[in-house]
Amino acid sequence: MTESAPRVPHLDCGPCLVRDWLMDDRAALPAIANNRAVWRNLAHLFPHPYDDADAEAWLNAVCAARSPTQWAIEVGGRLAGGIGIDLGLGIFARSAQIGYWLGEAYWGRGIATAALRAVTTHIMPRLDLARLEARVFAWNAASMRVLEKCGYEREGLLRRSVFKDGEVIDSVLYARVT
Ligand SMILES: CC(C)(COP(=O)(O)OP(=O)(O)OC[C@H]1O[C@@H](n2cnc3c(N)ncnc32)[C@H](O)[C@@H]1OP(=O)(O)O)[C@@H](O)C(=O)NCCC(=O)NCCS
Repeated sequence: MTESAPRVPHLDCGPCLVRDWLMDDRAALPAIANNRAVWRNLAHLFPHPYDDADAEAWLNAVCAARSPTQWAIEVGGRLAGGIGIDLGLGIFARSAQIGYWLGEAYWGRGIATAALRAVTTHIMPRLDLARLEARVFAWNAASMRVLEKCGYEREGLLRRSVFKDGEVIDSVLYARVT
């Protein structure tokens, strides 16, 4: 690990741990990710159905990254989900978009809130980010609540901005700024 790499070696979030993805997550990943209720709330890069080949492709990509920006969420020693950022380019270099998901068995226990809070606090100063933002589908009240609990503010409604699951829907822009 280099000094500048934005690694999150093992970030203890209380009810969960955020850590780098491992090729050993290959078996556990499809079991939690192959779920329509998860897919329905995520952007197009998250496939459905989610099979072994999808897990392999994801892990090959994220495990090869020199400076990882995607991490696994672990609960009680088991893979529970993922959290990660997409860094902005050029004039957006001090902004990033954050996304997260949990297997459905882990919902409703404060885990996403703990993970998002810890990653936000850890990553913003490390990467000198002025802004972390998230786009949430209008039907996803739980995720909006998670963001609000973590100090993100609602900035606006992006009307008819998303085509998901056969519908054109609104999304909501949230951001936390320094
Ligand atoms: C959204 C998601 C990450 C939430 O994870 P979680 O660990 O269950 O969230 P938490 O338990 O930390 O907090 C959920 C909050 O939303 C609230 N909530 C849950 N369902 C809700 C609903 N339908 N309406 C309003 N609030 C709701 C909970 O009561 C809780 O708030 P509280 O602590 O004030 O009671 C999880 O459901 C998930 O992975 N969903 C699929 C992928 C996804 O939506 N990712 C985010 C994309 S922006």
